[in-house]
Amino acid sequence: MRVLVTGGLGYIGSHTCVELLNNDYEIVVVDNLVNSKMTVIDNINKITGKNFPFYNIDVCDKDALEQVFKNHKIDVAIHFAGYKAVGESVEKPLKYYENNLLSTIVLCELLNKYNCKKLVFSSSATVYGKPKVLPLTEDCPLNTTNPYGTTKLIIEGMLKDLYISDQNWSIVILRYFNPIGAHKSGLIGDDPNNTPNNLMPYILKVASGELPVLSIFGADYDTSDGTGVRDYIHVCDLAYGHLLALNKLNSGLYYYNLGTGIGYSVLDIIHTFEKVNQVKVPYKIVERRAGDIASCYANPSKASKELGFKAEKNLEDMCKSAWNFVIKNR
Ligand code: NAD
Ligand code: UD1
Repeated sequence: MRVLVTGGLGYIGSHTCVELLNNDYEIVVVDNLVNSKMTVIDNINKITGKNFPFYNIDVCDKDALEQVFKNHKIDVAIHFAGYKAVGESVEKPLKYYENNLLSTIVLCELLNKYNCKKLVFSSSATVYGKPKVLPLTEDCPLNTTNPYGTTKLIIEGMLKDLYISDQNWSIVILRYFNPIGAHKSGLIGDDPNNTPNNLMPYILKVASGELPVLSIFGADYDTSDGTGVRDYIHVCDLAYGHLLALNKLNSGLYYYNLGTGIGYSVLDIIHTFEKVNQVKVPYKIVERRAGDIASCYANPSKASKELGFKAEKNLEDMCKSAWNFVIKNR
């Protein structure tokens, strides 16, 4: 089976490419490098011992993407390409609506034209907004708090309409919780092109001395220690979830949470990181971040029952592998 992977040189995409190649899928990767680097290709080659075709193109560029469909018979697409920085999406909403929506529309038009109506889409736990009940199941109410989240919610709606219009489509929508960690080789990991906003990439910059101190956004939440609680999942477990999702692409429209079901606080993450890596992460408590929620974690039982998905790696593995990626790339 040949899988078109958009955004395949990014954080989650690159780990998924490794899983796909290691499991004998053929892949064709498309990425415009807005948030990734060409060196990721060599590193995927090194880890897997396999090569694959790569196109440095924008998924929104229909003519360029159509050439990929002409060059390769695509059986299914996994659509990672998109922008994901929440803060920037508030400042530049149109940039987010344009890239995230248009790339999905163009991709679906071509999947339709080339009669390959099978898609796995990267959604996010952000579509649950501020949870009313925890843990979150797939049928919890949807609601967003920022333009990035709204792009994901609109795309989910668009894909649902597409499926209603033509039930030959088969679509799996994966709602990721908080992926952290890196491949055990230390060759690929979370390597954003700009200053990170998310917790783990920020911890890595502080631990390595590139940034002086981590700001903890609020210690007065209604949680065990007052800091925000999230469902952190090892990126390799998340990547493997995509392989399981491919098995579901026979017909239908499905939604799955990919998380562990366990909530950890910001202080849990810092303390575990310091302990397993023997390195200090200086921090200070500051005001809450606008739009943040106290707690968010998944009920992963639907993915477990229907996909056979189970996150295998624990928080220590996540913290060790994230730091290993930094050490190997200093
Ligand atoms: P990433 O930024 O590391 O990867 C995205 C990749 O897509 C990058 O390599 C970027 O260069 C590429 N890209 C962006 N727009 C493109 C376009 N128009 N054409 C071609 N390539 C393009 O992000 P990630 O963390 O790997 O996330 C992958 C997907 O998962 C995104 O859709 C993101 O919104 C979603 N997601 C991520 C998280 C997370 O915490 N990382 C959580 C929930 C959902
Ligand atoms: C954020 C986004 C979410 C997106 C997800 C993945 C917001 C409000 N939400 O989720 O929409 O799907 O990233 O891209 O941005 N923290 C600190 N200090 C920091 C960074 C984070 O204390 O420097 C805390 C946060 O307050 C939170 C936890 O760490 O409690 C995790 O934050 P983060 O990694 O940004 O992820 P989310 O907020 O869950």
